[in-house]
Amino acid sequence: MAHQSLITIEHHIMMQEREHPEATGVFTGLLMDIALAGKIISREVNKAGLVEILGSTGSVNVQGEEVQKLDEFANSTLIDSLDHTGRVCIMSSEEDSNAIEIPPQYPCGGYTAAFDPLDGSSNIDANVPVGTIFSIHRKISKGPRGDEDDLLQVGRRQVAAGYIIYGSSTMMVYTTGNGVHGFTLDPSVGEFLLSHPNIRTPRRGRTYSANESNYHHWSEGIRRYVDRLKETDKPSGRPYNARYIGSLVADFHRNLLTGGVFLYPADVKDPKKPTGKLRLLYEAAPLAFVAEHAGGYASDGYQPILDLEPMSLHQRVPLFIGSLDDVKEIEQYIAEHDKRS
Ligand code: AHG
Ligand code: MN
Ligand code: MN
Repeated sequence: MAHQSLITIEHHIMMQEREHPEATGVFTGLLMDIALAGKIISREVNKAGLVEILGSTGSVNVQGEEVQKLDEFANSTLIDSLDHTGRVCIMSSEEDSNAIEIPPQYPCGGYTAAFDPLDGSSNIDANVPVGTIFSIHRKISKGPRGDEDDLLQVGRRQVAAGYIIYGSSTMMVYTTGNGVHGFTLDPSVGEFLLSHPNIRTPRRGRTYSANESNYHHWSEGIRRYVDRLKETDKPSGRPYNARYIGSLVADFHRNLLTGGVFLYPADVKDPKKPTGKLRLLYEAAPLAFVAEHAGGYASDGYQPILDLEPMSLHQRVPLFIGSLDDVKEIEQYIAEHDKRS
């Protein structure tokens, strides 16, 4: 068995930083702050059944969704690990309707952080994998403190993005645009150790992930595409496998490693949800950044997710993400069968 040297995420990020001559230690520090928050959230997620942290808080967030206690814990852990370090100038979270400013007693830094503190939270009580998704941009506003313009930047300008998945093991996957790298947490020493260097996603997969209870709300192109995946006349004979966990991070991570495509289309029949469910800033754009840097692709059905100009913090977009050829094929079905609304 080839001896895998022990590379911690700290060491790896510092090595990555040397590739960016203009980067300072601030960038490394920011990614380490997120890793720290991930370790703390992992500890709570992994003992959730034992302490009074399961279940819902009884309150509803800006998305109109019931806030789980672990959502709130993850959110405050991320904010508390980022707001005083002088590395960040403003933040955005799925759980906060407005941008999160840096308290006046703390200095502002040159980066922003947007995050989904706990993705898949409706699954927590059923012990299904959940995750944290994060997206980092450079500050572009002129003032001393950050503002919304720093957050509403096109996804392709991200300087880093990734996620932490709390599953059978806790893994942190990130990219700074120089390959996608996965680290597995060894909880006995509290270190994320390199376990998946240079993740590349297969050009085409054999898995599709979609909530098919929405089938009759999809456009004709999407319905035809998913029907096609099930036909058994293919040379390979077997249709695609359906795998849907209901946690975006878990579905995305499996498809990233083994190939496949995740679909959350727009709902053409529900004027309240014309653009789908997933949020651009802290779900679609960071995962699209990871997908593209692993050789995959992410689209809203018409164009790359990474080219979409965000108009608001909680803007929703249709999301097709994963293996390059599979996502491109979805765009073809849409071009062929859907009239552009
Ligand atoms: P969150 O828990 O952060 O609100 O995200 C839930 C999202 C995503 O994780 C998952 O892919 C999707 O909701 C599942 O939606 P459906 O239950 O409508 O399939
Ligand atoms: Mn989410
Ligand atoms: Mn969430």
